[in-house]
Amino acid sequence: MKCIIPAAGKGIRLQPHTLNKPKALLTLGNKPIIAHIVDKILEANISDIIIIVGFEKEKLKNFLLTDYSDKCNLTFIEQRERRGLGHAIYLASKYLDGEPTIITLGDSLYENSYISMLQEYDKCNTWDGLLTVREVSNPHSYGVVVTDSHSSIIKSMIEKPQDLISNKAITGVYIIRNTKALEDNLKDIVETNSTGAGGEIQLTDALQKMIEKGFTLGVIDSGEWFDCGNKESLLEGNRFVLSSLQISEIKSEIINSSIIHPVVIEAGCSISNSIIGPNVSIAQETTVTRGIISSSIIGSGSVIKNVNIKNSIIGNEVSVEGELHDLNVGDNKEIQIS
Ligand code: G1P
Repeated sequence: MKCIIPAAGKGIRLQPHTLNKPKALLTLGNKPIIAHIVDKILEANISDIIIIVGFEKEKLKNFLLTDYSDKCNLTFIEQRERRGLGHAIYLASKYLDGEPTIITLGDSLYENSYISMLQEYDKCNTWDGLLTVREVSNPHSYGVVVTDSHSSIIKSMIEKPQDLISNKAITGVYIIRNTKALEDNLKDIVETNSTGAGGEIQLTDALQKMIEKGFTLGVIDSGEWFDCGNKESLLEGNRFVLSSLQISEIKSEIINSSIIHPVVIEAGCSISNSIIGPNVSIAQETTVTRGIISSSIIGSGSVIKNVNIKNSIIGNEVSVEGELHDLNVGDNKEIQIS
């Protein structure tokens, strides 16, 4: 089994945090998104990993080569033109040699492990592939699948549907047994430039072509999933990662402060007279003085002073400084300080 992780995108909805680094390098809890994904892939004993890089590719390559080249066999493929997910997978499909492959999106984390997904895949050994899905309230934003009510076999699938034909969204893990058939169908749509939703070459369209030709694709539930594509979903991903840690990771001295678990505080930070947590990750060398911080991701080398922050993402080397108020308020008043 090989693995493809597409991670070439620009992460536009996460700017400014992705102006100078790929989305896959944003930190959730104690490590970047890509590290969470690769660690879980390695847990499933898959060591041939193909990463599709593009925007800020050197940063992603350097991180993975430094941390993972002794643990797995990494292949980097550059997607120079932004022609869509189908195009990205097509570029990688030439390296598969017909081997079954798990494709997992470079910005998404899953409650269910790849190990459990692969166990389901092994049970369906006559099928050509298996996709993870989840019911959603906004299917127009995803690829969706239509199945029979009593079956897990996909009858049809469509990317970003205009009409409400199904609320089962594709959540981004595709375990493909017949990678040769996938490669052939991707090749057709790439070579004829048959763009789909958003004017892009869509993986969903190639899979739909497979279904039309009689290949069998099925679905399994992905459990909760976090596609860290915007600020809210990134913070949710951070909460998910922190809640799955056994204990908070606190590598710095905490002075006269309260910690509400779970949190990650990396080394070299200075935290004093503050309340930190729950669901906060703070990267190295950051100083927090008289701060109240909950549900937030704070970058490295930042200084946070006299502020109450929640649901926030603060980058590296940022200074956020508020004022302490000196109040003199009589009885029966209501005061809002903004
Ligand atoms: C991609 C897939 C889509 C899937 C989604 C999951 O869309 O094309 O089928 O539902 O990921 O996150 P994108 O997020 O690139 O628009």
